[in-house]
Amino acid sequence: MTKIAFGSDHVGFELKPTIIDYVKELGYEIEDLGAYSDKRTDYPIYGKKVGEAVSSGNADLGIVICGTGVGISLAANKVPGIRAACVSEPYSAELSRRHNNSNILAFGSRVVGSELAKMIVKSWLNAKYEGGRHQRRIDELNAEDRKDSKLFNSIVESDNPKYQD
Ligand code: RB5
Repeated sequence: MTKIAFGSDHVGFELKPTIIDYVKELGYEIEDLGAYSDKRTDYPIYGKKVGEAVSSGNADLGIVICGTGVGISLAANKVPGIRAACVSEPYSAELSRRHNNSNILAFGSRVVGSELAKMIVKSWLNAKYEGGRHQRRIDELNAEDRKDSKLFNSIVESDNPKYQD
């Protein structure tokens, strides 16, 4: 069963259980990595926790929530191998998986309501990475994660006449 790790700061805390219940209804296993109350805290703690859960393979995917989704996605993206997409509508959520192979979804509880958040989550979970022309960009991100400039430049310079977009 696909396992989704959840994280939020105190601002995202209230929306998180609604989204957790929804994701469970869709048939996924979940793990809530905090925050566990609305006591003031810091989003980097939970972005990092969810990022590490996904990068280590303890979870397949992650969903993170703060006020805007921005701070917690920035934190998650510090973890090598993480591609966290901060979105506020379903189209970008879907494309973030199809094109960017995002492995963490981020949104803001001060930006989207619970019904829009559910639509975003469903679009994201239902979409599949397409590979193909997108893979060289993921390879470039992976090379950058490893600070391997030589590999990064070799991918950039490699010819790919097959693809236009
Ligand atoms: C907390 O005040 C707020 O800054 C945080 O939830 C988030 O929106 C940051 O990106």
